[in-house]
Amino acid sequence: MTKILITEFINQDSLDNLKKNFDVLYNEQLCENKIELEKKIKDCDGLIVRNKTQLNSDVLKNASNLKFIGRLGVGLDNIDTEYCKNKNIHVQPATGMNVDSVAEYVVSSSLSLIKKIPMFHNGTIKGEWPRTTIKSIEINHKYLGIIGFGTIGKKVAEYSSKNGLKVLAYDPYVNEINNKEIDAKLSSLNQIYEKSDIISIHLPLTDETKNMINKSSFSQMKNKPIIINTSRGGIINESDLIEAYNKNNISGFALDVFEKEPIESKFYNKIKPGMNCILTPHISGVTTESNIRVSDFIVKKITDFFN
Ligand SMILES: NC(=O)c1ccc[n+]([C@@H]2O[C@H](COP(=O)([O-])OP(=O)(O)OC[C@H]3O[C@@H](n4cnc5c(N)ncnc54)[C@H](O)[C@@H]3O)[C@@H](O)[C@H]2O)c1
Repeated sequence: MTKILITEFINQDSLDNLKKNFDVLYNEQLCENKIELEKKIKDCDGLIVRNKTQLNSDVLKNASNLKFIGRLGVGLDNIDTEYCKNKNIHVQPATGMNVDSVAEYVVSSSLSLIKKIPMFHNGTIKGEWPRTTIKSIEINHKYLGIIGFGTIGKKVAEYSSKNGLKVLAYDPYVNEINNKEIDAKLSSLNQIYEKSDIISIHLPLTDETKNMINKSSFSQMKNKPIIINTSRGGIINESDLIEAYNKNNISGFALDVFEKEPIESKFYNKIKPGMNCILTPHISGVTTESNIRVSDFIVKKITDFFN
């Protein structure tokens, strides 16, 4: 029977369906244990992972039977896709299956930060009453700059323009916007930095995008924007981001992804109560609904592949 190894959490009903057709080994802890993973991967035909399982060539060279990798999510930076291509291993992301969850996170965090909700909350629970000392603004007619205009970037544009934001998008690989639902203008990176009140990042982590938003980028931002990153840590330089906030070059940030996950004290010690920020543990794409969609999608793809 075809053997499938699953190394991170999956929706239970989808798992039960998979077990009807395959010999499944499911161990959510395997993503943390390289030695065990290298053993278990040896005789599997298919592998299902999220973003924590590091599938570099060192690990993959143990998997001589492997023909299919299903990724419960998008972003393939934890998988050596070049190695997979050479070895004829099919890599399947769940493109589009968590787009609504991430886009809702971006809309809600941009609204919260523009409204300075974290600061009002912090003052109020300390017994202060910062009704006039903290000023918040409206999002209507403000500029949202989107960097990386793929599946999620476009959905964020669609949601945000309906909320009254004017959307600018930077993506050198997109030549035109031909979806009438999306009200956005393709722009240069400079224009985004100069005009935006909110900047949301939706890039893959690649050699080109690593450290792309850095000290020099923050220095070009004219409107003290809110920065939102739900894509990958490492695309924004975290030290430069905190410095930009402390120097009042940006007025808030929401981070769902980090250079090191879980975050380390070196980073979180710099976050002080009362800062206009929201930090979350890589959950923007993970809701009850998206977990079902993502899991069902990958189970269907792996079933079709081996049948
Ligand atoms: N936090 C989460 O839970 C979560 C969930 C889903 C996705 N993600 C991350 O979000 C990223 C985006 O997801 P997606 O589904 O929209 O991917 P996508 O592939 O549909 O879109 C990425 C876009 O980035 C563009 N791009 C690539 N290099 C660029 C560059 N140098 N400059 C500007 N644009 C560039 C591409 O042309 C593409 O249009 C994923 O790669 C993943 O890492 C995170």
